[in-house]
Amino acid sequence: MKVKAPGRINIIGEHTDYNDGYVLPFAVNRYVFLSIEGSDRFIFHSENMNETVEMERIEKLNKWTDYISGVIASFEKRGYRMSPVKISVSSNLPMGAGLSSSAALEVASAYAISEYLGFNVPKLELVKIAREAEVEFVGVRCGIMDQFTSAFGRKDHAIFLDTMTLEYEYVPLKLKGYEINLVDSNVKHALSSSEYNKRRQECEEVLKVLGKKSFREVTKEDLEKLSGTLRKRTRHVIEENERVLKSVQALKEGDFETLGKLLFSSHESLKDLYEVSCEETDFIVDYLRGKEGILGARMVGGGFGGGVIVLSKKGAFGKVKEELAESYRKRFGIDLTFHEIESSDGVQKI
Ligand code: GLA
Repeated sequence: MKVKAPGRINIIGEHTDYNDGYVLPFAVNRYVFLSIEGSDRFIFHSENMNETVEMERIEKLNKWTDYISGVIASFEKRGYRMSPVKISVSSNLPMGAGLSSSAALEVASAYAISEYLGFNVPKLELVKIAREAEVEFVGVRCGIMDQFTSAFGRKDHAIFLDTMTLEYEYVPLKLKGYEINLVDSNVKHALSSSEYNKRRQECEEVLKVLGKKSFREVTKEDLEKLSGTLRKRTRHVIEENERVLKSVQALKEGDFETLGKLLFSSHESLKDLYEVSCEETDFIVDYLRGKEGILGARMVGGGFGGGVIVLSKKGAFGKVKEELAESYRKRFGIDLTFHEIESSDGVQKI
């Protein structure tokens, strides 16, 4: 059996998903393709890595196989009887670009295993299994956005998701005279997952200081009770949630000018208040600000490198991208990669 699961890009709502906040991602037309068959051992093969790994029992190897092994461990933890399988994967999703190739691999694995072994697990449960793989097995305490989007994506729609209640709404993504591009900075700073977990701890600390259970209860008045780093982090989360709500409205009204401004302010906040940006992605966003037809740009995903989402009038980005690549190369000695992004459906059989 063969399946494919898409990556995701988040329009706005960054570092809100583990804080009971709002996000506005969509599934992208780049995928992890996975085929599954019966076997007498676990065999995982990656075409992109050109590597085959065999194991009698699931074990952590600190590499790509952990995303699949983690999913199997989650199934087992829930009492499903796993039999050994051979899983082969290939992908046209750039890794480390902020499109969440890891969540796509987890969701593809969870869905394929569930269908192939006849578990028939509902989609939301698959999302939880996939996320648990990342949190407990891989060790990145991520939120639910990436796996949710890879499973629930819908072509021509973004997903407005409330990560507290898991209620969601498909918001039409009619780009008409506009386009969305992803600029891959081609840097991924080593501290990304340790800093990610640190941000989570800081947010937990905020709740402790305020004596609140959920970040949803944290208000602007609470900012007065906080200082220094914790205050900055909190301000980002509160204001980023507000920006998501405004962005949903703007998207519904086809008001891309407003949406673009919200993207720029999200970036500023991620840079100055949440401090998850880096020189390279800042450079890209600063370069684009004020260029004709460029409406907005910001870093996407966890941060410390990865991609920048760019919203522009159709054709406008094409006019500046070579110059941008040239300046970036001059400054950092690194080549940029560009991807024009379209929306996609979520995980499915092929
Ligand atoms: C990573 C995580 C997501 C989310 C983003 C930041 O992509 O996997 O759950 O927290 O960072 O918004």
